[in-house]
Parts: sequence; structure tokens; C-alpha cells
Amino acid sequence: MKKLHLLTSIISISLTISAMAQENIGDPAKGGYPEYVFINKVPKMEAEETARLIAQALAKGRLIIFSYMSKLTDPTLGDKGFTADFFAKQWLESMAQDIIDLTPQQQIIIDKVIAAGKQSIANNQERLNLKNVKWKNFLPATWARETGDILKTSTGIVTKQPTIRYRHLANAPDAMEKETLIKFTQPDYNDSPYGIFTQMAKQPVYRYFEPIRLMTPCLACHGKPKGELN
Ligand code: HEC
Repeated sequence: MKKLHLLTSIISISLTISAMAQENIGDPAKGGYPEYVFINKVPKMEAEETARLIAQALAKGRLIIFSYMSKLTDPTLGDKGFTADFFAKQWLESMAQDIIDLTPQQQIIIDKVIAAGKQSIANNQERLNLKNVKWKNFLPATWARETGDILKTSTGIVTKQPTIRYRHLANAPDAMEKETLIKFTQPDYNDSPYGIFTQMAKQPVYRYFEPIRLMTPCLACHGKPKGELN
């Protein structure tokens, strides 16, 4: 598939950073902020690589689902056989090179990313296996959003696919995401990801952004008028 230079969205990852190397899971945070933010903290040194790993895992999962879209939207088929295990086998193969040399904390997080991605596919079996229905409201972006919801409750890591004219409310950009979307559409932008250590609710976080670009088959639904953020 040819990659067009049109930005549809960004993948936005926010990780909670451990203030001290020996900070443990479940250590209370100063100030009593929502507990979900503190489940899996990431050492500062590993933050960028961990965020990149999660972004890659989501991108690869989206691509696998995309390659099955014609089967998944075939109204003549009932059971599509697109089970969580069927999906995970290909997903893990596509990630094999990325996940050979993980730190213990990255391993915990990647295991939870995989569990979340599988859970999202499992949750959608009923609608995916509907016969006589073409459009089932299930797309790669839906999978990534639902996987992100599960991942957030199991790790505290927030993943989003924000865009300016978002289709789903969960993808409404916050101030930093909006700024990044604008930056990524500048003519001199060189396609490199952007990461920054900052704070969310007074908690130290690392925020990481990668562009999501459109490919020709995406244009059926995205990218009108051409070059616009949508
Ligand atoms: C059949 C129409 C269709 C096609 C083809 C399609 N999308 Fe989408 N896209 C949607 C819809 C509908 C949503 C909202 C899905 C949701 O959140 O449940 C969406 C959401 C998204 C989002 C999240 C941001 C937003 O707008 O809410 C991204 C990123 C995205 N699509 C990228 C792509 C890419 C990349 C491709 C091509 C590989 C693609 N889409 C192909 C319809 C489509």
C-alpha cells in the first residue's frame, strides 16, 4: 500500500514516570490523584522506548485488521474465524523483532498491550460474525481505541488517536495534541516522532506522538479535501 503524505491523525501515548528508580506498583502518589494513573510506572530512561513500542504495537495491529477488512465486511459470511487467538498469532509475528530485548518493566507492559488487543477482538466477536450485515462499525481505529481503553484500566497508560476533525469523541485532541497535529502538518516537518517530559494532574509523565498517515485505501472515508487534517 502506498503511503500518502497526508496526516490523518497522531498516535498519542502518555506514560506515568516513576520519580525514583525503586518506586513500586501501588505506591501512593503524592496528592492523591486518580489511582489508574499509577498502575505501571516507567523509569525515565525507558520512557521513550516504551512509548515507541506501544505505538508500534498499535500500528501493526491496525494494519492486520485493515488487511482483513474485506472479509470482515463480507455480508455473505457468518463466522469469520477472526478470533482473538487468530489475530494475536499474526500480530505477535509482526512484532517479533520489536519485542526480543525488553526490560522487565517493558515486558509487563507489552504483555498487557497484547492482552488488551486480544480482549478487544474477543469483545467484538458477536458483531464481527453477523451475517447479512456489511458494515459492523468495526475498523482498525475502533480496535485501537477499544484496546487503549482496556490498556488504560490495566496499566494507567493513556493512548489516543487524536485528530482535528475527530469522528469519535475519545479522539478529541487536548492542547498538546492539537499543537503537535499542527506541527506535524508543517511543510518542514521531517516525520520524526516527538516526545516530551511534562506533567498531567501534577504527575510526571512522558508524552509521545507519532504521525498516522493515510494510505490510498483510507481515502474512501478520510482525507477530503485532500491535505486537510481529517
Ligand atoms: C470505511 C471507512 C473508513 C476507512 C476505509 C478508514 N477509516 Fe479511519 N475511521 C473511520 C471511522 C468511522 C472512524 C471512527 C472509528 C471509531 O472511533 O470507532 C475512523 C477513525 C480513524 C482514526 C481515529 C481518529 C478519528 O477520526 O476519530 C484514525 C487515526 C483513522 N481512522 C485512520 C485511518 C487509516 C490510516 C485508514 C487507512 C489505512 C483508515 N482510517 C481507513 C472510517 C474509515
